[in-house]
Amino acid sequence: MKLLAHILCLALALAWAQSQEEHAAAVLDRCKGLEMDAVAVNEEGIPYFFKGDHLFKGFHGKAELSNESFAELDDHHHLGHVDAAFRMHYEDNPTDHDHMFFFLNNKVFSYYQHKLEDGYPKDISEVFPGIPDNLDAAVECPKPECDEDSVIFFKGDDIYHYNVRTKAVEEKEFQSMPNCTSAFRFMEHFYCFHGHMFSKFDPKTGDVHGRYPKEARDYFMRCSKFSDDSDHVERERCSRVHLDAITSDNAGNMYAFRGHHFLRKDEGNDTLKADTIENAFKELHSEVDAVFTYEDHLYMIKDDHLFLYKVGEPHTHLDGYPKPLKDELGIEGPIDAAFVCEDHHIAHLIKGQNIYDVELKVNPRVAGHERPISLFKKVDAAMCNIEGVKVFVGNHFYHFDSAMLFVASRALPEQHKVSLEVFGCDH
Ligand SMILES: *[C@@H]1O[C@H](CO)[C@@H](O)[C@H](O)[C@H]1NC(C)=O
Ligand SMILES: *[C@@H]1O[C@H](CO)[C@@H](O)[C@H](O)[C@H]1NC(C)=O
Ligand SMILES: *[C@@H]1O[C@H](CO)[C@@H](O)[C@H](O)[C@H]1NC(C)=O
Repeated sequence: MKLLAHILCLALALAWAQSQEEHAAAVLDRCKGLEMDAVAVNEEGIPYFFKGDHLFKGFHGKAELSNESFAELDDHHHLGHVDAAFRMHYEDNPTDHDHMFFFLNNKVFSYYQHKLEDGYPKDISEVFPGIPDNLDAAVECPKPECDEDSVIFFKGDDIYHYNVRTKAVEEKEFQSMPNCTSAFRFMEHFYCFHGHMFSKFDPKTGDVHGRYPKEARDYFMRCSKFSDDSDHVERERCSRVHLDAITSDNAGNMYAFRGHHFLRKDEGNDTLKADTIENAFKELHSEVDAVFTYEDHLYMIKDDHLFLYKVGEPHTHLDGYPKPLKDELGIEGPIDAAFVCEDHHIAHLIKGQNIYDVELKVNPRVAGHERPISLFKKVDAAMCNIEGVKVFVGNHFYHFDSAMLFVASRALPEQHKVSLEVFGCDH
């Protein structure tokens, strides 16, 4: 009887713990439209979204406790959550360059490479004289985006331009802009979040041009479902979330995959079309890892499986597929990216920091010729066509004249913007 009571007790405790966990996870689902407390981009360009005592890194994935990344934030529980955050990014100010600043009530924390600087936290009035406590948002604004290297602080409808060099404060009125609850600078653009909406603004004048506010989830998060009035083409073109896979067939038709959706552009037609993966590639459902095109077929890799579709309307899934990747291409998943260049019969597979070649005409196929990739830690997607190889990493892509040059290259070529230069989204 005693044992039974014990077991019952344990079961109840487990159930309680689980429900607590589910509760926390349910509350912090960013796809449900959270209002973030603060946003800042880290030194690698990855945005950090703060909410309560949690932190979302990048555009997808679960929330983590902020104290796992920034331990000392925890020693000051009475301060509550992060009100505002920004990353100092001024190369001619070496002492503070790349430091992340967090504002909690009347205190400011300065972190460098995730370590709290000596003497911090300090009073905001000491470090940023003339800037009030209990801020709503903050964002860095380097020259020439602002006239001087500055930080823009937001509190209610008050805007302060803080000159980093002279410490002069200029109050501004941003009339057309809503009160920001958080703000950040991303790929040279300035965004003000208010609730789960955002507006892009001119940092000098606060002017908002174009159709705003927009839904933050559509551009800065990777969600499986979007609101009914979300314009799928517009959202996928302009999303800042990385691609899963991209390919172009010999005829010049392009397919780009992200999460549950894909964009398609047909040769000779600049109109992009969006659809769900579920609709066009039913067997695959969503979230493909890598795709290449070879002899009128789309080779779609997901985890340890290969899905094979004949290109056409509709695309037909070949009988007997999916098959194990190991049997079909002689390699284990997960694969990050894959491409075949024109007229060649070699699939180049990128897995972590290595690239492998698979001779497609040989049976059984084997992944050989392993070489390290020196330029990137992680590749999201890659494609090859007449123009050469495009390698996609986050919001950017890089062009190489051939697969060989991509592997041999030791210097990063010019960075191109995915949304602008592949999908023609200019905002
Ligand atoms: C972070 O905070 C949580 C909850 O507030 C606590 O349980 C945990 O021990 C803290 N972790 C660190 C590394 O301080
Ligand atoms: C913006 O902030 C001001 C206080 O500075 C407040 O009076 C006003 O109601 C706020 N506007 C909205 C829409 O919340
Ligand atoms: C391009 O595609 C769009 C959308 O399917 C279609 O309406 C249009 O007629 C096509 N244009 C050409 C030139 O084929």
